[in-house]
Amino acid sequence: MEAGLIEFLNIVFRFIHILAAVMWIGNSLLFTWMEINLLEENDNEKSQGCMNMLHGGGIFFLQKRIINPEEIPARLHIFKWQSYTTWISGFVLLVSVFYTRGGTLLLDPSKTDFPAYMGMVISFVSLIFGWFFYDAVWRSPLRNEAWAGIAITFVALLIYSSWLETIFNGRAVFLQMGAMMGTWMSANVRFHIMPNQDKMMENLKVGNPHDLKLGKQAKIRSWHNHYITFPVIFLMVSAHFPSTYGADRNITIAAVIMVGLVIIKHMMNCYRKIPRWKEIIYATFIGGTAVVYGLVTVPPILSEAEEVVQLSPEAEVGQAFFTTMGCQACHLPQPTTIAPSLYGIIGREREFVDGTKLIADEAYIRESIMNSPVKVVKGFAPAMPPYASVISEEQLDQLVAYIQSLSD
Ligand code: HEC
Repeated sequence: MEAGLIEFLNIVFRFIHILAAVMWIGNSLLFTWMEINLLEENDNEKSQGCMNMLHGGGIFFLQKRIINPEEIPARLHIFKWQSYTTWISGFVLLVSVFYTRGGTLLLDPSKTDFPAYMGMVISFVSLIFGWFFYDAVWRSPLRNEAWAGIAITFVALLIYSSWLETIFNGRAVFLQMGAMMGTWMSANVRFHIMPNQDKMMENLKVGNPHDLKLGKQAKIRSWHNHYITFPVIFLMVSAHFPSTYGADRNITIAAVIMVGLVIIKHMMNCYRKIPRWKEIIYATFIGGTAVVYGLVTVPPILSEAEEVVQLSPEAEVGQAFFTTMGCQACHLPQPTTIAPSLYGIIGREREFVDGTKLIADEAYIRESIMNSPVKVVKGFAPAMPPYASVISEEQLDQLVAYIQSLSD
């Protein structure tokens, strides 16, 4: 398919993906919130709780109740397509952004010599096996030992992503973790929540009493989905946070962020039970942010440090500037759909959208930075801002020295 059309479809599916995810997560957050805030109605044995909510100029009265077969409402709303649409559009994106390039955007050639298609195979197989593993853990007796189940699932996810880290680039590792957890969530809806609710309704329709056991099983998976949402949101937007996925300790960073977000969500849910819930949220947020900042910025010690390539002082300043100016948000070590890689660029032939070509040299790098729209590299949108009015001559020298060092 034509590159321009693929890119356009990416925009369409990315937007659908975000909209559907917002609707799904919105539902998950609101329903769980309602579940937590239901007030017991002692005088009504059919009631599992009720509440009043002010919205839109009126008072909503909400009651969760057990019904008799003859009371099945004619119009009963069910929620599943938000979830399915999120997964389907996410999968289309995974294929169109990462798989159409034969897996090249997933693997990191500096870490592995696997052929590119192995990137796709590993990514796809992990989605499927990730689900079977998670589902097996939570079908086993562990499901009654929530803490043990959570610990095993979390540690397995970290071990797996540490392995992925030895072959995938950082961005792809975070994305793959997010995609795996997103798959658990959607599969929970498809294979547990909906079937159990359907069975419950079928039972009612043939005149059996309301079976609370089925609803309870669906609810456990709903709770999982609820707690996974915050971490998955972080992982899914992490393409914007190169200093996290690109850090040497990226898996530890992901782990700290995931634990922190789950604690914060849990405290929000426990606000009626844990008096100091707010302080715990603040402490988790501040402490977690500080730890992540340390993990991102404190240079690695011992053996890792020895491998760092020695840069000239000028190139070193340029490297820091490259990060602070946000160049690395678009230019990763490997080419992406957003921007070309600058590694090994000097001396390489460049082809532009107008069909002209040249061999990249220092002058070309200077022009590209200061006035990028003049020569737009073929296959990319003219997305790079011109920096002529922002970058001084001295800073430009430093940036160029750094970019040249990537070709040494
Ligand atoms: C918003 C994303 C974005 C940011 C931020 C960005 N670039 Fe770019 N850059 C691009 C894109 C897209 C291209 C390819 C299209 C073009 O040539 O304009 C490019 C092209 C280049 C090229 C030519 C690469 C080639 O393959 O020929 C250089 C050099 C470059 N950028 C350096 C930088 C530097 C240095 C910074 C930071 C000061 C920076 N870029 C910031 C998106 C970005």
